[in-house]
Amino acid sequence: MKYVRMPIEIESPEEVGYDTIRFNLSESSMRDRKLSDLGLRLEDLVLAYGIHRGAPGLRTLVARQSGVTEGDILTTAGAAGALFIIATTLLERGDHLVVVRPNYATNLETPRAIGCNISTLDLKFEEAFRLDPERLEGLLRPETKLISITTPHNPTGVALDEATLRRVIALAEARGIRLLVDETYREMSFVPKLPVAASLSPNAISVASVSKSYGIPGARVGWIVCRDMQLMERFLAAKEQIGICGSIVDEHIAEAALAGGPQWLAAVNKQLRATLATVEDGITREKRVEWVRPQGGCVCFPRIRADAGIDVDKFYKTLTEEHATCVGPGHWFEQDRRFMRIGFGWPLEAELKGGLAAISASLDAAARS
Ligand SMILES: Cc1ncc(COP(=O)(O)O)c(C=O)c1O
Repeated sequence: MKYVRMPIEIESPEEVGYDTIRFNLSESSMRDRKLSDLGLRLEDLVLAYGIHRGAPGLRTLVARQSGVTEGDILTTAGAAGALFIIATTLLERGDHLVVVRPNYATNLETPRAIGCNISTLDLKFEEAFRLDPERLEGLLRPETKLISITTPHNPTGVALDEATLRRVIALAEARGIRLLVDETYREMSFVPKLPVAASLSPNAISVASVSKSYGIPGARVGWIVCRDMQLMERFLAAKEQIGICGSIVDEHIAEAALAGGPQWLAAVNKQLRATLATVEDGITREKRVEWVRPQGGCVCFPRIRADAGIDVDKFYKTLTEEHATCVGPGHWFEQDRRFMRIGFGWPLEAELKGGLAAISASLDAAARS
């Protein structure tokens, strides 16, 4: 494995230092919660090894919201841990896969570290970042092992419709290719939620976590959903070799968050509709920026118009150094730096407005005369 640190991690707010940031529009999750918000006291929790597949109560809750049974769930160290297990189990050096780009960086970077042959399915702003199944089909080869997609998508917030998901599943099934669907943002949606892909086909593998919608990324808990029991046994073997089992403490916290899920998620989705309206208002007023309105998640991926006459490097320098504001610049996602990911789940309303104003002020400062 050839590991390379990813810009999105090197430049992440937790690495740069939260205390250096005034308006943090770079997060892709809801505001972080405290243990006390979950009403938890952990003094009497026995710190034994956990059941290797994951705490039964937690797996039951995940299974219930995924439309599968407890046996179809394997908990992991975050969705990131799930993606790592899946990639390293299914792929070897030289194997071919098709991955959507832009994407959460790990979805591209782990197959790269393995030494895979990657065809990227590049989503285009001009096509509203829509996933075109015909273009996807055109990238498949007889030896393709994996198709990797994300919905709702990071960084664009664009979501697949059910007909498209079913078409992609059918494509994968017809060729015996595994389909990975990263559903980390599934619970945050402005359109009807899709079924969990793994509930539709034993060929599909779904991944999600408590990090984003539940606002507890510090509890490193995610999961794999898959109905192919032989494959699940291999994923379990990988998990056992990496860390034996999940953290008892983290899984206990995740279970409490999921138990309060329906009420919490209703509030989250209500809040996101309000903050999305704030972003929409800001972008509509800012004529130098254009966007595709997101359908789910808590991020969007607007860009500075090509003809706006902006010195992009100066824009980011001003934004960071003079306004202490951060967004997710395009290079985090292997895209032109005119693109920026704006997260509208994490900042408070006033911070979001402050950040949007800082973007406009930085565009002013970076205008080529
Ligand atoms: C699409 C997607 N998948 C997976 C992850 C990893 O999340 P975690 O490991 O915190 O669950 C992220 C985090 O940004 C993401 O955006």
